[in-house]
Amino acid sequence: MTMVLSLAFLTLSAFAGLSAAEPAYNQSAEYDSGAFGLSPTQQFVAATDYKPVQLNYQLPLNDSTAGLISSGLLFFSPQGGDVEQAGPLIIKQDGTVVWSGAEYAAPSFHIEKYKGEDHIILWKGDFQVGGFGYGNWLVLNNKYEVVANYTTVGLLNDTLSDLHDSHIYEGDLATMTAYLPQPYDLSPYGGPSDGFIASAVVQEINITTNEVLFNWDSIDHVDPADCYFDLPAGAGANYSTPWDYFHINAIDKDEAGNYLLSSRYCHTLFYVDGSSGDIIWRLGGKNSSFAMGEGSDFSWQHDCRWRSNNTISLFDNAGREEEEDAAYSRGLLFNVDFTAMTVELAKEFIPWSGTVSHSQGNVQFLENGNVVIGWGQQPYFQEFDSDGNALWEMHFGVGDVEAYRAFRFEWVGLPSTSPSLAIVNGTAYAWWNGATELASWELRGSSGSGEDVSLVTTPRTDFETAIEFDGWDGYTSYTVVALDGEGQTLGTSEEVTA
Ligand SMILES: *[C@@H]1O[C@H](CO)[C@@H](O)[C@H](O)[C@H]1NC(C)=O
Ligand SMILES: *[C@@H]1O[C@H](CO)[C@@H](O)[C@H](O)[C@H]1NC(C)=O
Ligand SMILES: *[C@@H]1O[C@H](CO)[C@@H](O)[C@H](O)[C@H]1NC(C)=O
Ligand SMILES: *[C@@H]1O[C@H](CO)[C@@H](O)[C@H](O)[C@H]1NC(C)=O
Ligand SMILES: *[C@@H]1O[C@H](CO)[C@@H](O)[C@H](O)[C@H]1NC(C)=O
Ligand SMILES: *[C@@H]1O[C@H](CO)[C@@H](O)[C@H](O)[C@H]1NC(C)=O
Ligand SMILES: *[C@@H]1O[C@H](CO)[C@@H](O)[C@H](O)[C@H]1NC(C)=O
Ligand SMILES: *[C@@H]1O[C@H](CO)[C@@H](O)[C@H](O)[C@H]1NC(C)=O
Ligand SMILES: *[C@@H]1O[C@H](CO)[C@@H](O)[C@H](O)[C@H]1NC(C)=O
Repeated sequence: MTMVLSLAFLTLSAFAGLSAAEPAYNQSAEYDSGAFGLSPTQQFVAATDYKPVQLNYQLPLNDSTAGLISSGLLFFSPQGGDVEQAGPLIIKQDGTVVWSGAEYAAPSFHIEKYKGEDHIILWKGDFQVGGFGYGNWLVLNNKYEVVANYTTVGLLNDTLSDLHDSHIYEGDLATMTAYLPQPYDLSPYGGPSDGFIASAVVQEINITTNEVLFNWDSIDHVDPADCYFDLPAGAGANYSTPWDYFHINAIDKDEAGNYLLSSRYCHTLFYVDGSSGDIIWRLGGKNSSFAMGEGSDFSWQHDCRWRSNNTISLFDNAGREEEEDAAYSRGLLFNVDFTAMTVELAKEFIPWSGTVSHSQGNVQFLENGNVVIGWGQQPYFQEFDSDGNALWEMHFGVGDVEAYRAFRFEWVGLPSTSPSLAIVNGTAYAWWNGATELASWELRGSSGSGEDVSLVTTPRTDFETAIEFDGWDGYTSYTVVALDGEGQTLGTSEEVTA
């Protein structure tokens, strides 16, 4: 009886979770109520390998805000228990998918300059309990080919790179985070004396040679007593359940060659000397080197970045699953005075949906001064003008649907694969994963005599575009040609019979 009921429920909710592939909805109350399921999913007629999340504008663009947004595509990677297909997505502002990297299931991905050109970097590896991982960073060129693959070098037990942060500098140098389990006496903290701690490692290598240029281990510099994450009951007993006392989630190297680090569990940004590894100063937490001005206190934060020589941005979660320290999370910009040793709140960015994000999250400053914020554990992202006015906000789920970070990047993708064509029930469907320049599709027919004619040209409407045509018995085979905005050919599909 129970089984029959739950099967019926599963069937119903599976249907509820599927929506036709469409651009982002506009303030759909049904979407937000869960009427379409906890993770509404786009469904395509022929491109059935792709099941990306459906988006819903909570704050839509209007005539006055549409001209204020920054250019570029949106990057995020939905994950979480309710997501039907996790992994990187690049979408247009209208919510239609340009690239799905679902094959990588990478929680973390963004653009970096590798050897002078824009590349996608994404992390692939194994998650551990506690929200860190052991894996590799893959570097994809604009054809979506993997051209490099790097991870940490020479760590105890060959511990691999964590997912939280990596950046590429000077062509082929990469910084990375690692969570390093190691034996540690936990008796002062109520744990076993032969316990294990997971310290935070910052490593920089040359990707080409695997030479280690910098290696810093938090346990040599920051005592667990300096942090706020008490040893969880039963944790630290063995190598598989180390006490993650520091939880590093961002590294930003500056022109002076020093490293700004974010420790979520110490509520502190550490500024570390790139030569000696010494801590130069601490911002926030139990032992701040700075007097913290009104409104500048933060907790459980992510994504610290230098924005100039005396400004720093970060994502203040202001909470975690077990506690909320404020009514909502915020994007913050600090003015830092290194003479007076003070921190003042310069700007704050408030979530349209007004919630605390218990984990994850990021703040991206764009060239035109706009700011994109991914609200992490909450399935929203948003763009602001430079004064902190909200321009738009989109939801990408309702239930356990999250994205570690969300970005806007200018990106030109010219996939090395060919476009796809399928003819289903008298309609042609064309798609090409990753083709950012694709503007329209030309359907061509070919007959036995070698004749090859243009039949119809249709603008790209979505990830998958339907092409209407009558007269399928007129030709022996069909192809689609992908055209850019100038009508130039980008690629041609294999021949298909109707
Ligand atoms: C979204 O819906 C609102 C009304 O709820 C309407 O004013 C607005 O024009 C719509 N925006 C778009 C982009 O369709
Ligand atoms: C457009 O949206 C912005 C941001 O929500 C709002 O402040 C503004 O009043 C809206 N303008 C119009 C013409 O609706
Ligand atoms: C990346 O390198 C690791 C070894 O460090 C290997 O296991 C993995 O298969 C590589 N991944 C790709 C996509 O090349
Ligand atoms: C990394 O190593 C390669 C090979 O030796 C070298 O050509 C390159 O200049 C190095 N990168 C930097 C930034 O020094
Ligand atoms: C290395 O890893 C193994 C498990 O794979 C663990 O038993 C051992 O204690 C680790 N060694 C150290 C020094 O952490
Ligand atoms: C490690 O400790 C956890 C928590 O105490 C326990 O569940 C697990 O079985 C232990 N694993 C090993 C390999 O001893
Ligand atoms: C910022 O600091 C770097 C390195 O210390 C220095 O080279 C640069 O001139 C400074 N920039 C400004 C605008 O002060
Ligand atoms: C406080 O921070 C300063 C500067 O980083 C450091 O020298 C000192 O050891 C820290 N004190 C404690 C108790 O951690
Ligand atoms: C194609 O037509 C058949 C028969 O009418 C129908 O059962 C099927 O659902 C249609 N498929 C699609 C993808 O529309």
